[in-house]
Amino acid sequence: MSERVKILVIGDIIGKAGRRALTEHLPALIDLHQIDFVVANGENLAHGFGLNERVAEEMFALGVHVLTNGNHCWDQREFLELVDEDDRYVRPMNFTEYAPGRGWTVQETGMGHKIAVINLIGQTFMGPWDCPFAAVDRAMDEIPDDVSAILVDMHAEATSEKMGMGWHMDGRASFVYGTHTHIPTCDEIIHASGTAYQSDIGMTGSYQSIIGMKVEGALYRMVRRLPQRFEAVERGGSIFATMVSINPDTRMATSIERIHIPPAQ
Ligand SMILES: [Fe+2]
Ligand SMILES: [Fe+2]
Repeated sequence: MSERVKILVIGDIIGKAGRRALTEHLPALIDLHQIDFVVANGENLAHGFGLNERVAEEMFALGVHVLTNGNHCWDQREFLELVDEDDRYVRPMNFTEYAPGRGWTVQETGMGHKIAVINLIGQTFMGPWDCPFAAVDRAMDEIPDDVSAILVDMHAEATSEKMGMGWHMDGRASFVYGTHTHIPTCDEIIHASGTAYQSDIGMTGSYQSIIGMKVEGALYRMVRRLPQRFEAVERGGSIFATMVSINPDTRMATSIERIHIPPAQ
Protein backbone atom coordinates (compact mmCIF):
# COMPACT_ATOMS: atom_id res chain seq x y z
CA MET A 1 0.00 0.00 0.00
CA SER A 2 1.22 3.49 -0.78
CA GLU A 3 2.02 5.75 2.16
CA ARG A 4 -0.51 8.36 1.18
CA VAL A 5 -4.00 8.54 -0.24
CA LYS A 6 -4.68 11.44 -2.55
CA ILE A 7 -8.23 12.70 -2.67
CA LEU A 8 -9.83 15.20 -5.01
CA VAL A 9 -12.92 17.01 -3.75
CA ILE A 10 -15.21 18.76 -6.22
CA GLY A 11 -17.95 21.05 -4.89
CA ASP A 12 -21.41 21.60 -6.36
CA ILE A 13 -21.40 20.64 -10.06
CA ILE A 14 -23.85 22.96 -11.84
CA GLY A 15 -25.73 21.52 -14.79
CA LYS A 16 -24.26 21.13 -18.24
CA ALA A 17 -21.53 23.77 -17.82
CA GLY A 18 -20.11 21.87 -14.84
CA ARG A 19 -20.52 18.46 -16.43
CA ARG A 20 -18.85 19.61 -19.66
CA ALA A 21 -15.85 21.06 -17.80
CA LEU A 22 -15.36 17.80 -15.92
CA THR A 23 -15.77 15.71 -19.07
CA GLU A 24 -12.99 17.74 -20.62
CA HIS A 25 -10.58 17.86 -17.68
CA LEU A 26 -11.29 15.35 -14.91
CA PRO A 27 -9.61 12.22 -16.37
CA ALA A 28 -6.43 14.22 -17.10
CA LEU A 29 -6.49 15.79 -13.61
CA ILE A 30 -6.74 12.35 -12.01
CA ASP A 31 -3.76 11.20 -14.07
CA LEU A 32 -1.64 14.28 -13.56
CA HIS A 33 -2.03 14.42 -9.79
CA GLN A 34 -2.24 10.64 -9.25
CA ILE A 35 -5.59 10.98 -7.54
CA ASP A 36 -6.84 7.84 -5.75
CA PHE A 37 -10.37 8.93 -4.91
CA VAL A 38 -12.82 11.58 -6.13
CA VAL A 39 -15.87 12.90 -4.31
CA ALA A 40 -18.21 15.55 -5.70
CA ASN A 41 -21.41 17.27 -4.62
CA GLY A 42 -24.19 16.28 -7.02
CA GLU A 43 -27.14 18.36 -5.79
CA ASN A 44 -27.11 20.62 -8.89
CA LEU A 45 -26.07 18.12 -11.57
CA ALA A 46 -29.37 18.05 -13.49
CA HIS A 47 -29.74 21.54 -14.95
CA GLY A 48 -29.03 22.98 -11.49
CA PHE A 49 -31.76 21.08 -9.67
CA GLY A 50 -31.05 17.71 -8.12
CA LEU A 51 -29.68 14.72 -9.99
CA ASN A 52 -30.86 11.70 -11.91
CA GLU A 53 -29.24 8.43 -12.92
CA ARG A 54 -28.17 9.65 -16.36
CA VAL A 55 -26.12 12.63 -15.19
CA ALA A 56 -24.79 10.81 -12.14
CA GLU A 57 -23.54 7.91 -14.28
CA GLU A 58 -21.71 10.44 -16.49
CA MET A 59 -19.80 11.54 -13.39
CA PHE A 60 -19.07 8.00 -12.16
CA ALA A 61 -17.72 7.14 -15.64
CA LEU A 62 -15.29 10.08 -15.41
CA GLY A 63 -13.81 8.76 -12.16
CA VAL A 64 -16.06 10.13 -9.40
CA HIS A 65 -16.42 7.55 -6.59
CA VAL A 66 -19.09 9.19 -4.41
CA LEU A 67 -21.73 11.89 -4.96
CA THR A 68 -22.85 13.88 -1.92
CA ASN A 69 -25.97 16.01 -1.72
CA GLY A 70 -27.73 18.92 -0.07
CA ASN A 71 -30.93 20.96 0.00
CA HIS A 72 -31.68 20.14 -3.68
CA CYS A 73 -31.57 16.40 -2.89
CA TRP A 74 -35.17 15.62 -3.83
CA ASP A 75 -35.60 18.01 -6.81
CA GLN A 76 -35.66 15.01 -9.18
CA ARG A 77 -38.22 12.44 -8.03
CA GLU A 78 -36.30 9.42 -9.32
CA PHE A 79 -33.53 10.17 -6.83
CA LEU A 80 -35.81 9.13 -3.95
CA GLU A 81 -35.40 5.52 -5.15
CA LEU A 82 -31.91 5.78 -6.59
CA VAL A 83 -30.40 6.94 -3.29
CA ASP A 84 -31.74 3.82 -1.58
CA GLU A 85 -30.42 1.41 -4.20
CA ASP A 86 -26.85 2.58 -4.75
CA ASP A 87 -24.33 3.24 -1.97
CA ARG A 88 -22.23 5.60 -4.11
CA TYR A 89 -24.78 8.26 -3.14
CA VAL A 90 -25.06 9.92 0.23
CA ARG A 91 -27.55 12.51 1.43
CA PRO A 92 -27.25 14.61 4.59
CA MET A 93 -27.12 12.39 7.69
CA ASN A 94 -29.22 14.91 9.63
CA PHE A 95 -32.26 14.81 7.33
CA THR A 96 -35.29 13.38 9.16
CA GLU A 97 -35.56 9.69 10.00
CA TYR A 98 -37.98 9.31 7.05
CA ALA A 99 -35.40 10.18 4.38
CA PRO A 100 -34.38 7.31 2.09
CA GLY A 101 -30.70 6.57 1.51
CA ARG A 102 -27.76 6.91 3.85
CA GLY A 103 -25.81 9.71 5.53
CA TRP A 104 -22.40 8.05 5.14
CA THR A 105 -20.83 5.49 2.85
CA VAL A 106 -17.52 3.67 2.48
CA GLN A 107 -16.01 3.10 -0.98
CA GLU A 108 -12.63 1.68 -2.00
CA THR A 109 -9.79 3.23 -3.98
CA GLY A 110 -8.06 1.28 -6.75
CA MET A 111 -5.26 0.52 -4.22
CA GLY A 112 -7.77 -0.97 -1.78
CA HIS A 113 -7.96 1.87 0.75
CA LYS A 114 -11.43 2.30 2.24
CA ILE A 115 -12.66 5.88 2.28
CA ALA A 116 -15.63 7.02 4.36
CA VAL A 117 -17.71 9.98 3.19
CA ILE A 118 -20.17 11.69 5.54
CA ASN A 119 -22.72 14.25 4.28
CA LEU A 120 -24.29 16.86 6.59
CA ILE A 121 -26.53 19.88 6.11
CA GLY A 122 -26.30 23.06 8.18
CA GLN A 123 -29.11 24.54 10.27
CA THR A 124 -28.38 28.26 9.85
CA PHE A 125 -30.50 29.66 6.96
CA MET A 126 -30.96 26.08 5.71
CA GLY A 127 -34.16 24.76 7.25
CA PRO A 128 -35.23 22.82 10.32
CA TRP A 129 -32.81 19.91 10.08
CA ASP A 130 -31.57 17.84 12.99
CA CYS A 131 -28.31 18.82 14.66
CA PRO A 132 -25.36 18.16 12.29
CA PHE A 133 -22.93 17.90 15.22
CA ALA A 134 -24.92 15.10 16.89
CA ALA A 135 -25.35 13.45 13.46
CA VAL A 136 -21.62 13.44 12.68
CA ASP A 137 -20.86 11.94 16.10
CA ARG A 138 -23.38 9.20 15.35
CA ALA A 139 -21.77 8.59 11.94
CA MET A 140 -18.34 8.30 13.59
CA ASP A 141 -19.70 5.63 15.95
CA GLU A 142 -21.14 3.68 13.01
CA ILE A 143 -18.22 3.88 10.53
CA PRO A 144 -15.96 0.80 10.65
CA ASP A 145 -12.48 1.19 12.15
CA ASP A 146 -10.63 -0.03 9.06
CA VAL A 147 -11.16 3.08 6.93
CA SER A 148 -8.07 5.00 5.76
CA ALA A 149 -9.73 8.42 5.49
CA ILE A 150 -12.92 10.16 6.58
CA LEU A 151 -14.32 13.03 4.49
CA VAL A 152 -17.11 15.33 5.69
CA ASP A 153 -19.18 17.40 3.22
CA MET A 154 -20.85 20.08 5.39
CA HIS A 155 -23.48 21.53 3.05
CA ALA A 156 -24.22 24.87 4.67
CA GLU A 157 -24.71 28.58 4.19
CA ALA A 158 -22.96 29.99 7.26
CA THR A 159 -19.17 29.92 7.32
CA SER A 160 -19.22 30.02 11.14
CA GLU A 161 -21.24 26.82 11.28
CA LYS A 162 -18.86 25.17 8.81
CA MET A 163 -15.81 26.33 10.79
CA GLY A 164 -17.46 24.95 13.92
CA MET A 165 -17.73 21.57 12.22
CA GLY A 166 -14.06 21.75 11.17
CA TRP A 167 -12.96 22.18 14.79
CA HIS A 168 -15.53 19.69 16.11
CA MET A 169 -13.93 17.05 13.85
CA ASP A 170 -10.28 18.07 14.31
CA GLY A 171 -8.24 14.94 14.88
CA ARG A 172 -11.16 12.70 13.87
CA ALA A 173 -11.90 13.42 10.19
CA SER A 174 -9.31 13.70 7.40
CA PHE A 175 -11.00 16.61 5.61
CA VAL A 176 -14.01 18.72 6.56
CA TYR A 177 -15.17 21.00 3.76
CA GLY A 178 -18.12 23.16 2.88
CA THR A 179 -20.37 23.09 -0.15
CA HIS A 180 -23.60 24.96 -1.06
CA THR A 181 -22.56 28.62 -1.38
CA HIS A 182 -21.09 27.90 -4.86
CA ILE A 183 -18.26 30.36 -4.15
CA PRO A 184 -14.78 29.03 -3.31
CA THR A 185 -13.02 30.24 -0.19
CA CYS A 186 -9.23 30.53 0.13
CA ASP A 187 -9.04 29.55 3.80
CA GLU A 188 -7.71 26.01 3.34
CA ILE A 189 -5.77 24.90 6.39
CA ILE A 190 -4.63 21.83 8.27
CA HIS A 191 -5.82 22.15 11.86
CA ALA A 192 -3.70 21.48 14.95
CA SER A 193 -4.67 17.82 15.25
CA GLY A 194 -4.38 17.06 11.52
CA THR A 195 -7.79 17.63 9.97
CA ALA A 196 -7.79 19.56 6.68
CA TYR A 197 -10.47 22.23 6.39
CA GLN A 198 -11.92 24.61 3.78
CA SER A 199 -15.12 26.65 4.21
CA ASP A 200 -16.34 26.13 0.64
CA ILE A 201 -14.85 24.23 -2.30
CA GLY A 202 -16.77 26.46 -4.76
CA MET A 203 -18.90 25.34 -7.67
CA THR A 204 -17.81 23.67 -10.89
CA GLY A 205 -19.92 25.55 -13.38
CA SER A 206 -20.12 28.91 -15.10
CA TYR A 207 -19.05 31.97 -13.09
CA GLN A 208 -20.63 34.19 -15.79
CA SER A 209 -23.77 33.72 -13.71
CA ILE A 210 -25.32 34.25 -10.30
CA ILE A 211 -24.18 31.12 -8.45
CA GLY A 212 -24.54 29.11 -11.66
CA MET A 213 -27.89 30.49 -12.82
CA LYS A 214 -28.46 32.81 -15.79
CA VAL A 215 -27.97 36.41 -14.65
CA GLU A 216 -31.10 37.77 -16.33
CA GLY A 217 -33.65 35.63 -14.49
CA ALA A 218 -31.87 35.73 -11.14
CA LEU A 219 -31.46 39.50 -11.29
CA TYR A 220 -35.10 39.97 -12.34
CA ARG A 221 -36.15 38.23 -9.12
CA MET A 222 -33.82 40.36 -7.03
CA VAL A 223 -34.66 43.72 -8.60
CA ARG A 224 -38.40 43.33 -9.26
CA ARG A 225 -39.30 40.80 -6.53
CA LEU A 226 -41.45 39.01 -9.09
CA PRO A 227 -41.41 35.31 -10.03
CA GLN A 228 -39.02 34.20 -12.74
CA ARG A 229 -37.50 30.83 -13.61
CA PHE A 230 -33.97 30.00 -12.56
CA GLU A 231 -32.03 28.48 -15.45
CA ALA A 232 -28.55 27.05 -15.21
CA VAL A 233 -25.89 28.46 -17.56
CA GLU A 234 -24.86 25.69 -19.95
CA ARG A 235 -21.43 26.77 -21.18
CA GLY A 236 -18.17 28.27 -19.93
CA GLY A 237 -17.67 26.10 -16.87
CA SER A 238 -14.72 26.54 -14.48
CA ILE A 239 -13.51 23.77 -12.24
CA PHE A 240 -12.78 24.58 -8.61
CA ALA A 241 -11.62 21.61 -6.60
CA THR A 242 -9.33 20.81 -3.69
CA MET A 243 -6.74 18.04 -3.33
CA VAL A 244 -5.77 16.59 0.00
CA SER A 245 -3.09 14.03 0.78
CA ILE A 246 -3.87 11.77 3.69
CA ASN A 247 -1.70 9.42 5.71
CA PRO A 248 -3.81 6.24 5.79
CA ASP A 249 -2.25 5.06 9.06
CA THR A 250 -3.28 8.15 11.02
CA ARG A 251 -6.13 9.27 8.67
CA MET A 252 -4.78 12.80 9.06
CA ALA A 253 -3.99 15.25 6.24
CA THR A 254 -0.45 16.03 5.18
CA SER A 255 -1.24 18.59 2.47
CA ILE A 256 -4.12 20.59 1.02
CA GLU A 257 -4.12 22.43 -2.28
CA ARG A 258 -6.81 24.25 -4.27
CA ILE A 259 -7.12 23.77 -8.03
CA HIS A 260 -8.75 26.12 -10.54
CA ILE A 261 -9.21 25.33 -14.20
CA PRO A 262 -10.67 28.33 -16.00
CA PRO A 263 -13.20 27.98 -18.82
CA ALA A 264 -12.03 27.37 -22.37
CA GLN A 265 -11.74 30.67 -24.26
FE1 LIG B 1 -25.56 23.79 -4.69
FE1 LIG C 1 -27.24 23.64 -1.68
